[in-house]
Amino acid sequence: MGGYIPDEIIEEIRVRSDIVEVISERILLKKSGANYKGICPFHTEKTPSFSVSPSKQIFHCFGCNTGGNVYTFIMKIENIPFVDAVKYLAKRYGINIPQHEEKGINSNNRNTLFEVNELVADFFHKQLHDSPGGKVAMKYLKGRAINEKTISLFRIGYALPSGDGIQQFLNKKGIPHGIQNLAGLIKNRDSGGYVDRFRDRVIFPISDTEGRVVGFGGRVLNDEDSRPKYLNSPETPVYKKGDILYGLHITKDSIREKRDIFLVEGYFDLITTYQEGIKNIIATSGTALTENHVKVLRRYADTVTLVFDGDEAGKKASERGGIILSKGGMKVKVMPLLSEKDPDSFIKEVKSEGFLNIAKDSKPFMEYIIDRVVAESNIKTVSGKTDCIKRVLPFLSAINSSVEKSLYISLIAGRVGVYEKAVVNELNKELNTTSYKFSAINPEPGPMVKSGIDSRNRAEKILVQLMLLDDKNINKIKKYISADDFNDRDMAKVTSVLFTLSDGGDKITVAEVMDLLSEDKLKDTVSELAFEDIEYQDVDKNILDCIKYIKRSRIDVKDIIHRLKKAVLEGDRKEFKELQLKISKSREKEYNNESKNIPD
Ligand code: CTP
Ligand code: MN
Repeated sequence: MGGYIPDEIIEEIRVRSDIVEVISERILLKKSGANYKGICPFHTEKTPSFSVSPSKQIFHCFGCNTGGNVYTFIMKIENIPFVDAVKYLAKRYGINIPQHEEKGINSNNRNTLFEVNELVADFFHKQLHDSPGGKVAMKYLKGRAINEKTISLFRIGYALPSGDGIQQFLNKKGIPHGIQNLAGLIKNRDSGGYVDRFRDRVIFPISDTEGRVVGFGGRVLNDEDSRPKYLNSPETPVYKKGDILYGLHITKDSIREKRDIFLVEGYFDLITTYQEGIKNIIATSGTALTENHVKVLRRYADTVTLVFDGDEAGKKASERGGIILSKGGMKVKVMPLLSEKDPDSFIKEVKSEGFLNIAKDSKPFMEYIIDRVVAESNIKTVSGKTDCIKRVLPFLSAINSSVEKSLYISLIAGRVGVYEKAVVNELNKELNTTSYKFSAINPEPGPMVKSGIDSRNRAEKILVQLMLLDDKNINKIKKYISADDFNDRDMAKVTSVLFTLSDGGDKITVAEVMDLLSEDKLKDTVSELAFEDIEYQDVDKNILDCIKYIKRSRIDVKDIIHRLKKAVLEGDRKEFKELQLKISKSREKEYNNESKNIPD
């Protein structure tokens, strides 16, 4: 059912609908200051905590913490999917959804998209060698030690800076703008007409397992570039991000042979590692691992070794990925963390031999989790023990084999010093409650660290709020910080959406941001932040303070990391342990010292 509706139609309908009007048709709203208030239709209440903002075109209930834009409201109140909410409002406001586009995903259309993508991949690849900008891109690739053979194997390319290079190329081939748009290669410009999505970037074509090009990823050539470092194709009828893993069409044979996979985060991580000779590898490339990804991988391998970046975001991603892979029935191992560097820079130093040596020390996922949790909790106290058990539960419950599960239950019980039965009881409780809470990975980081993390997350929230309240703040913030610098996953995701939108140069509204957030929870958070009536005194100073705070909580660690890596290479486990301890201590200290400087 459903059917494809082009982005610009979705946008037009949203802009032409009036959220106050739509909601008033269902519940009684009363004007209250700049907003409207009413009794929330999504939970039972006596006093109105449901607010609607006519200027921002969003709603938020401060009682049940539900929020969103006009589409979210219709979806929730009518209990219908997004596409139906769009159709409903199109009808209500007399907007026509073009028929031929709505039909969308038939096989003809898919084949056309494959063909167009194929042409474009070739075009990008040629531009790398033939255009002046391509020469610069080539130099960039050489600077990252990518050789000619690898460039042609992965069909790495270059997108022209002009903004119409792709259009001109495809127009000449007789490919209509509608198809170019459907393929995610161009997008609407506010001033009318279209602009190429990828401009002045190194291009990585993304393929399905059969090697058909389904989309593209592009990186800026210069880290000083104010645009987002990476930009990817949007989802299209042939590109479903939750299904595609980067590189698999090239690496699948080697993976099938070894039945073992190294899983990395980035394009360059994969390409460099492959070039060094490690070929059983895939990359998630910016999307979180999904159950579908795991289904695909199951066909080729039994074991996955997680090789993520050594930063906090990398750890979180591997913990989340580990759960999904285990639940999908794969054996998961975790490569020891070598440095805050990513695998791309690391493999260049240690070469494949060093890499494989370290890989031998990979721990089974559960052991890694138990080690980490035990190291981070004070298991001498009762509350530390409880805390520790609580944190491992989501991981324990992800294990399918009951034999394995019972083994790990006795392991954790032994390490923490409680009866196995206590762990089992807690586990049963966990299984009876809600689904997996990934936040359980680090729920209560102990009193000292907690205050620091709270302050840091507060700084991140302030930045996001400032961007939501005034889109002029986005560029100010983007200059200094990338979405990946955010510790809070939710704030990182919202920031990434804001940064990407600002790349288009148009005015950004909160209602528009909502449509790009895939999780309901994020919409709730965003509407809450956007509703908060805060008058920031000195916005620019606030921005700089927050950025400094966020950045500073990493600096001290860098030097230690360097020594840490050396310790690993020299097999000095004692030094390794000591340094790790130092890192967690220094983080605590920084957090504590600096929470004072954070604006309220
Ligand atoms: N990514 C993305 N969109 C972003 C940021 C990152 O799709 N805005 C994806 C890319 O696939 C990237 C991966 O996430 O390769 C990891 O991101 P990051 O660690 O920031 O980049 P690196 O791979 O380290 O990039 P580089 O080495 O090129 O700096
Ligand atoms: Mn990198």
